[in-house]
Amino acid sequence: MIGFFGRLAVPLFGWLDPEDAHSLAIRALKFAPLPPARRDDPRLATRALGLNFPNPVGMAAGFDKNAEVPDALLRLGFGFVEVGTITPQPQAGNPRPRLFRLDADRGVINRLGFNSQGADAVLKRLAARAQTSSSAASGGEWGLGIVGINIGANKDAPDRIADYVRLIELFAPVASYVTINISSPNTPGLRDMQRPVVLDDLLARVVDARERAALAAGPTPVLLKIAPDLSLGDLDDVVGIARSRRLDGMIVGNTTVARPASLRDTALAKEAGGLSGAPLFPLATRMLAETYVRVEGAFPLIGVGGIDSGAAALAKFRAGAGLIQLYSALVFRGLGLIAEIKTALIAALERDGLDSLTELIGADAAAVTAEPWPS
Ligand SMILES: Cc1cc2nc3c(=O)[nH]c(=O)nc-3n(C[C@H](O)[C@H](O)[C@H](O)COP(=O)(O)O)c2cc1C
Repeated sequence: MIGFFGRLAVPLFGWLDPEDAHSLAIRALKFAPLPPARRDDPRLATRALGLNFPNPVGMAAGFDKNAEVPDALLRLGFGFVEVGTITPQPQAGNPRPRLFRLDADRGVINRLGFNSQGADAVLKRLAARAQTSSSAASGGEWGLGIVGINIGANKDAPDRIADYVRLIELFAPVASYVTINISSPNTPGLRDMQRPVVLDDLLARVVDARERAALAAGPTPVLLKIAPDLSLGDLDDVVGIARSRRLDGMIVGNTTVARPASLRDTALAKEAGGLSGAPLFPLATRMLAETYVRVEGAFPLIGVGGIDSGAAALAKFRAGAGLIQLYSALVFRGLGLIAEIKTALIAALERDGLDSLTELIGADAAAVTAEPWPS
């Protein structure tokens, strides 16, 4: 079945309108009789954020925005799935077309703008899932696998911080972890929440909510997902605040508003929105390494952006990722990429005579930060 999807995904995504292709993929995953995931090689097992990941390769936020198919994605071989972004109230997002495939560049531009069915609908699904699965002893780690939830504020929210607080309170009992998304470029003003005064207030209130939720539901790690477009001075501030507020981790990062000079699909490159996929890899990996050297091991990082091969996945670990996520490359490479990456990671361990990926994390961070800035 995985091979079937792996082969089918490329032509499916290839000739349909990108957003229709996405809807179709969600429907197919909802109804496909997928067998349970094969057991992962124990050398890929990863302990991070107080959770036991069967493998460190995750589905990035934005594919399963409304938690319709997290278990199907786990069955396809992901070690964890991040659902969302979810907003408190349902909202439609931006008008279509708002999703563009840059075939020549293996890139995607989206300006979806947090289209979300809203918290109630998603909470119902995750609560049903939590009930049917045997929950592990603690830590929100469900028997069916690790599902994190990515949360955002409604576009017209009078108090955006209050939206994040509310969503943590609601979702902590049913999520393995929660990601604070203030890095989408498609909600006007959202990225301004990365500015020090606002960020400190946000994280203070978010961590407070995390502590309150822990009393009832046990610990739920909270992560911050940042933009790859921050200046290094901004990154100093963001990491400093995340460390002082005792955040549990960071995700580096979201899509970029930059348009690398190398882009070949120059017409589509002019579309407004966030760019992801292969053209994002150099910038996202540089920002990951820059974040890693600033965090100094205080918490783990999830490396995201442009992973489209085993080699690219390995480079993320070596730049500082403890876990990785991907999305755009599935559009071009199909679902077979998940197994390809896991096989490549094991081959790398065998080549270097290592027992686990932990030994590789950040090995190249200093070298990456010394390279010329990616253009
Ligand atoms: C169509 C699309 C929708 C996305 N939606 C979200 C989202 O709702 N929340 C979020 O945090 N990131 C979202 N992302 C960003 C991805 O999670 C990821 O950070 C980014 O695409 C870089 O990874 P990639 O190059 O492997 O795609 C979206 C990306 C794409 C392509």
